[in-house]
Amino acid sequence: MAQASGGDAQAGKKAFIQCQACHTVDAKAPSRMGPSLLGVYGAKIGGRPGYDHYSKALSGTPGKWDDAKLDQWLTRPTKFAAGTSMAFAGVPDPKRRADLIAYLKTLK
Ligand code: HEC
Repeated sequence: MAQASGGDAQAGKKAFIQCQACHTVDAKAPSRMGPSLLGVYGAKIGGRPGYDHYSKALSGTPGKWDDAKLDQWLTRPTKFAAGTSMAFAGVPDPKRRADLIAYLKTLK
């Protein structure tokens, strides 16, 4: 499967609407079902501060979020971390994943 690259952060921001039911992008806002994604790019997988509902599947995954890992995760969360609590089927379109990743990079 083609890896996402060259994403458009503006398009990613629009695509993020489907993530907002569960994710804020604000450190001060309370966590929803999922952690705030502020600063997630480059951070330890399963390590957002102030969120203590990680599954063992995700918090036990070593490494930091980079393009390749986010691309795999967003393609099929349950394949990247079997047993994850992120109840989300995935984003099949590589362009849309690239856009989302470009947007996540802007959340600092
Ligand atoms: C139904 C709720 C829900 C939806 C929709 C959802 N997520 Fe999540 N997300 C979660 C949960 C819950 C976790 C924590 C998973 C775990 O611990 O296994 C998570 C974790 C993550 C993480 C890892 C965070 C970390 O600290 O390592 C990223 C990145 C992420 N989601 C991105 C997205 C994106 C991008 C979308 C939209 C395309 C999305 N999510 C849609 C609930 C959701």
